[in-house]
Amino acid sequence: MSEDAKTVAKGLKGIKAADSSICSIDGQIGKLIYRGYNIDDLCAHSTYEEVAYLLLYGELPTQSELDEFHESLTSHATAPPQVLEALKSLPSGVPPMAALRTAVSVLGHYDPLAEEESDESNKENAIRLVAVLPTLTAAIRRLRDGNEPLAPKPELSIAANFMYMLNGEEPSEDAAKAMDLILILHAEHGFNASTFTARVIIATLTDMYSAITGAIGALKGKLHGGANTEVLKTLQSVGDVDQVADWVADVRSRKGKFMGFGHAVYQTQDPRAKHLKEYSEKLGQEAGDTKWYDLSVEIEKQVVAEIGRQCNVDFYSASVQHYMGVPGELFTCVFASSRIAGWCAHVLEQISDNKIIRPSSNYTGPDDRPYVPISER
Ligand SMILES: CC(C)(COP(=O)(O)OP(=O)(O)OC[C@H]1O[C@@H](n2cnc3c(N)ncnc32)[C@H](O)[C@@H]1OP(=O)(O)O)[C@@H](O)C(=O)NCCC(=O)NCCS
Repeated sequence: MSEDAKTVAKGLKGIKAADSSICSIDGQIGKLIYRGYNIDDLCAHSTYEEVAYLLLYGELPTQSELDEFHESLTSHATAPPQVLEALKSLPSGVPPMAALRTAVSVLGHYDPLAEEESDESNKENAIRLVAVLPTLTAAIRRLRDGNEPLAPKPELSIAANFMYMLNGEEPSEDAAKAMDLILILHAEHGFNASTFTARVIIATLTDMYSAITGAIGALKGKLHGGANTEVLKTLQSVGDVDQVADWVADVRSRKGKFMGFGHAVYQTQDPRAKHLKEYSEKLGQEAGDTKWYDLSVEIEKQVVAEIGRQCNVDFYSASVQHYMGVPGELFTCVFASSRIAGWCAHVLEQISDNKIIRPSSNYTGPDDRPYVPISER
C-alpha cells in the first residue's frame, strides 16, 4: 500500500463528503450563506419561519406559502401527552440535552408516519420536528423548575411562542426579536458534527427520528453545541474583568480549551458572532446591567491575543441568552430547537440522492497472530 493511501484525515477535516445546496461557508473571509442568501441579510430582513422554509424547500416563501407553513407548524407544535409523561418520568438532574434526545426518540413512537419512506411523509415529519422541538425544550425547562409545560399559542411566531412556553409570559417585541435572531443564526451550518451524524444515520434508510436523536446526541458535546453552556459557566466563575488575566493564565497552564473560541472552518471571525455581540450589548444596556457583556468583551480581547483564534457563535450566544432569562444548562437545547431546520433539510437532501456512508480506516493493529487456546493464555 502506498504512503498516500495510508494517510488519514483526522476528524475528516477538509474532506468533502457530498454535494450539498443548503449552506456555503467561506472560512477564509467569514461568510455564511443559506441557500444563496447571506446570513447578514437574513438577520436584517427575515424571520426564523422564513429561514426554516428556505432551508427545507430551497426558496424564500411567498406570503401565502408562509401563511400555510405557519399553519402546518402550528398544527404540529403541541407535544403528545405521552412524550410529556416520558419526560416527567426521567430521573431528576438528567442534563436537558439528554432529556431532549429521549423526548425525540419517544416522539417517533407517536408519529404514525415515522416508519413511512415516502417523500411526502419525510417532509411532513420534518415540519413536525421543526414545530415541536421548541415545545419540548420549553417543557424540559418548566418540568425542571417544577412547573407544568405550557401548550403553544397558535397566533405567535416560533420565537415568541418559544419564549412564552419557556417563561410563562409573552415576550416583549425586542425579546422575541432577539430569540428570532438566535434561531436564524443557529439554524444551519453545513457538515458540522451533528448534521453529519444525522446524514450518516438517515443514509442507512432508517427513520428520521433516529437521525435527529443521533444529531442531538452529537450536538450535546462541549466541543460542539455544548460550548455555549460552558461559556456561561466561565463568565460566572471569572466574575469580573479584573480576574480575566489570571483565568487565561490558569486555562493555559492546564492546557485547557477556551470554550466559545476557535472553529474547524473559520480562519477569521465567525460571521454569526458579530450579530450576537451586538445583541449582547443591546440587551445589557436595556437591562441596565452590562456586566456580562463587558466581561465577554474583555475575555474575547485577552483570549484572542493569547491563542490567535477568534470567538465563535457560542461565545456571545451565552450572554445574550443569559440576559434573556434562559438558564445556562438549556442553551444547547435552544441551539437544537433552531438547528432542527438545518438537520431536517440535510436529511431530506441525503435521502433524495442516497448512498450509505461508509468510510474506511487505516488498520494499525497486529497481523497474523497465532491463535492461543484459552487454557494456554
Ligand atoms: C471548535 C474546535 C473543536 C475546532 O477544532 P479544530 O478543528 O481542531 O481547530 P484548529 O485546527 O484551529 O485547532 C488546532 C489547535 O488549536 C488550538 N485551539 C483551537 N481552539 C482552541 C481553543 N478554543 N482553546 C485553546 N486552544 C485552541 C488547540 O491547540 C488545537 O489543537 P487540539 O485540538 O489538538 O488541542 C476547537 O477550536 C475548540 O475546541 N474550541 C472550543 C470549543 C468550542 O467553542 N466549540 C464550539 C465550536 S462552534
